[in-house]
Amino acid sequence: SVINVILSGGVGSRLWPLSRKSQPKQYLPIFEGETLFQKTFKRNESFCDKVMVVGNCDNYELSRKDLESAGKKDYVEIIEACPRNTAAAIAFAAFASQSDDILFVTPSDHLIESGQKYQDSVDRAIQLAVDGHIVTFGLKPTKPETGFGYIKAEGEEVRGFREKPNLETAEGFLKSGNFFWNSGMFCFQAGVYLEELKSFEPGVYNAAKAAFDSSVDGKLDIDLSMKIPSISVDYAVMEKTKKIKVVQSKFSWSDMGSFESIYSYFRQQGHAVDSKGNMVIGTSLHTEFLGMKNTLLVHTNDAILVLKKEKAQDVKKVFERLEREK
Ligand code: GDD
Ligand code: MG
Repeated sequence: SVINVILSGGVGSRLWPLSRKSQPKQYLPIFEGETLFQKTFKRNESFCDKVMVVGNCDNYELSRKDLESAGKKDYVEIIEACPRNTAAAIAFAAFASQSDDILFVTPSDHLIESGQKYQDSVDRAIQLAVDGHIVTFGLKPTKPETGFGYIKAEGEEVRGFREKPNLETAEGFLKSGNFFWNSGMFCFQAGVYLEELKSFEPGVYNAAKAAFDSSVDGKLDIDLSMKIPSISVDYAVMEKTKKIKVVQSKFSWSDMGSFESIYSYFRQQGHAVDSKGNMVIGTSLHTEFLGMKNTLLVHTNDAILVLKKEKAQDVKKVFERLEREK
């Protein structure tokens, strides 16, 4: 069967104070009244026979609530004791599956247009996965973003995969023209993924297996989980595997990772912006910006963030400092 593996382990630290440990960004109902998590599930429902959510002890109830309100009751839940990154999170899903099950792995925090173009890409990815490939989705890059993975492609063949290059390298990739952004979604057979992980990162494979084998009711053991090396699937498998393919995709896609993307989304939706590009999120209080441009004021019931849009990536530092000071 085809299984939608929804990864929901991130806290969304760059969206503080909207996103909290207790309410990560994928569970904020601010996208046409829905959450990104719900949108993810609905977008993929028609391609998949089953849903598996890999989340953690802080958020599995939020996933449950979201899925239930979308009418989904029967799904597999894997509850991590602590985040050990995506190579391990996907391994848990693979251990919980049959070796020839097709895993369609998706992040839970992206905004994607689910029309014909999306359907064509996913259909092709599933075909390639049936043939034993590890499939990525390539999107045309629009700027030298350093937070993404880059795929060098010739048709469906992949000539190189490079996760999070520095700015200079990313600029070179953009100039050369045959590089694509990695969407963060993947498609492969559970057994194929595990074989590759085992050969490239046996330490991750073995520790993840030990933690998974000792899980009770889908909940992983904390002590065994702490022993799993934290590495993302991009570094652990995608940069190394020879089985990799890419489906060049044309659907519109946005990683709602920072206030920069939230700002453009809200702006596009007709959310008010003053003549200098200043925006208020989260309050209807009358707000005036004097001598400021491209500034965001984010208001929640217990915190306010005032942010220059160019500094959107630095919000993570605030989040991390607040966590340390707790
Ligand atoms: N269950 C679980 N456990 N999920 C996790 C964990 C974990 O330990 N860590 C991250 N995730 C989830 C996140 O919530 C997100 O939905 C997804 O896995 C990807 O993790 P990110 O941390 O958001 O990765 P990234 O954005 O830095 O990079 C990935 O996505 C980019 C596109 O958005 C890479 O695949 C890049 O190559 C890609 O370009
Ligand atoms: Mg991300």
